[in-house]
Amino acid sequence: MTEIEACIFDLDGVIVDTAKYHYLAWKRLAKELDFDFSKNDNEQLKGVSRMTSLDNLLGIGKLSFSQEEKLKLAEKKNFWYVEYITKMTPEEILPGVIEFINTLRENKIKIALASASKNAVKILNQINMMNYFDVIIDGTKVKEAKPNPEVFLKSAEELGIEPKYCVVFEDAVAGIQAAINAQMNNVGIGTSDILTKADYVMNSFENFNFDQLRKYFIK
Ligand code: BG6
Ligand code: MG
Repeated sequence: MTEIEACIFDLDGVIVDTAKYHYLAWKRLAKELDFDFSKNDNEQLKGVSRMTSLDNLLGIGKLSFSQEEKLKLAEKKNFWYVEYITKMTPEEILPGVIEFINTLRENKIKIALASASKNAVKILNQINMMNYFDVIIDGTKVKEAKPNPEVFLKSAEELGIEPKYCVVFEDAVAGIQAAINAQMNNVGIGTSDILTKADYVMNSFENFNFDQLRKYFIK
């Protein structure tokens, strides 16, 4: 990579830990359908769209439903999920996120949010972060779920930056794969045993700044 011009952030599990609320809502649905759903199973639901998440969940429970029934189940899960996120406050922004984004702004780096969630704008409003992004591409604006690269390619296009100058921040296996499919550099937020394909993995943004990012990617 010769230069970094844009940073593209996933939302759930990167900026806020909404992954835990998704998990609780899916677990509640699994319980209603009478099967167990573990934290480990939940990895398969991270980063992918609501309906793909539901398909993965039903696969774990070895259940099948009509499309109409599936829409009702997804709606039910979303109702419980929205109950959690309407209680969110800026205190739930993960450690170091704002500080890191501020170092990007100081360095004139373009910033996008690229999330599969249809609740992204609601969450950004809850945590007062709508104004941090030059571009927001969420689940209402894309057709294909990660690992399809659509959400990242659309973000780069709207920012007016070529994919090779973008760095994606992702917590999901499907999201890292989507970044790779978009031919973008990427940083995994989590652990390297799960995010095996990420260019670089870190636990959190705490004490991380633009100079460190540059040192890693600019050769
Ligand atoms: C992603 C989450 O960001 O959004 C997934 O990682 C979730 O777990 C997906 O299924 C869709 O979210 P929503 O809010 O539209 O149901
Ligand atoms: Mg995520």
